[in-house]
Amino acid sequence: MSSDARFREYRDYIERYLADYFTQLDAEPQKQLFEAMKYSLLAGGKRIRPILTFEFCRLCGREWKDAAPFAGAIEMIHTYSLIHDDLPCMDNDDYRRGRLTNHKVYGETLAILAGDALLTDAFALAASAKLSKSEDMALAIQVLATNAGSLGMVGGQVLDTLSEQRECTEQEVLDIQSRKTGALINAACVLGAIVGGASQSQIEAASGFAACLGLAFQIRDDMLDVIGSAGELGKATGMDEQKNTFVRLYGLEKCEELVQKYTNEAIRHLDRFEDTADLISLAESLTTRRT
Ligand code: IPE
Ligand code: IPE
Ligand code: MG
Ligand code: MG
Ligand code: MG
Repeated sequence: MSSDARFREYRDYIERYLADYFTQLDAEPQKQLFEAMKYSLLAGGKRIRPILTFEFCRLCGREWKDAAPFAGAIEMIHTYSLIHDDLPCMDNDDYRRGRLTNHKVYGETLAILAGDALLTDAFALAASAKLSKSEDMALAIQVLATNAGSLGMVGGQVLDTLSEQRECTEQEVLDIQSRKTGALINAACVLGAIVGGASQSQIEAASGFAACLGLAFQIRDDMLDVIGSAGELGKATGMDEQKNTFVRLYGLEKCEELVQKYTNEAIRHLDRFEDTADLISLAESLTTRRT
């Protein structure tokens, strides 16, 4: 199977899985909430995080579909982070995933609540997973919560937002990016490994891979704000002039080198696994992504 075919299969599966989540809710009266949740969750997106979860589960030797509750949970948390990130009090964006942002369509109240619901429902979904070692569930939920919360994504969003009025040092930018973006990518890889029955050293390798890939991913995101096209990206460009990005610190050319450098470092962590050619080609393809 080619890497494209493998990752297409993962993507198709998570799309169906997330859509199916809502069918059990048909009889509930809070229909506008579900509409707002679905509007952003089922709007496409690259689904990089679920793909990483599935692939690490497979690399650790278990059926990848067993990781679906965690893959779905991470995509729900990621989508909530995007809905809130786009709010007027945060990045104030009008477009996301090729359509109007959630608050532009449903209003701020529902957008905030749809985000809250996606975050909370994600934990119920994650807890429905069947792990081969049931004692791993507590660890897995802790990994999800720590990476999503004050020590992870939310912590990074706070550092990002509160530093807008001044210029940050390189260390401060690393602190922001490793949390706001790196943390959920870390959860995606580590949870795939946990479901896959990874050894401790494989979990550490998955986490090391994710830390480097997360940095490369966010630096590329910052580059695309300058060199990308809104049509391809599905979100506006030129929004980050006040932001503390690597592009602001080093300029585009150096950033291109950094994306490659962190990607190479990520790939070096994969020598604890076999059959990593597809994951390596995925990591490489992200260095030149346009979306
Ligand atoms: C965008 O994430 C926000 C960041 C953390 C950089 P993605 O680039 O993964 O967005 P989607 O999921 O494909 O829309
Ligand atoms: C967002 O970073 C990271 C999140 C936790 C959502 P950005 O603000 O750079 O993401 P985009 O560019 O709006 O997708
Ligand atoms: Mg932001
Ligand atoms: Mg933003
Ligand atoms: Mg951005």
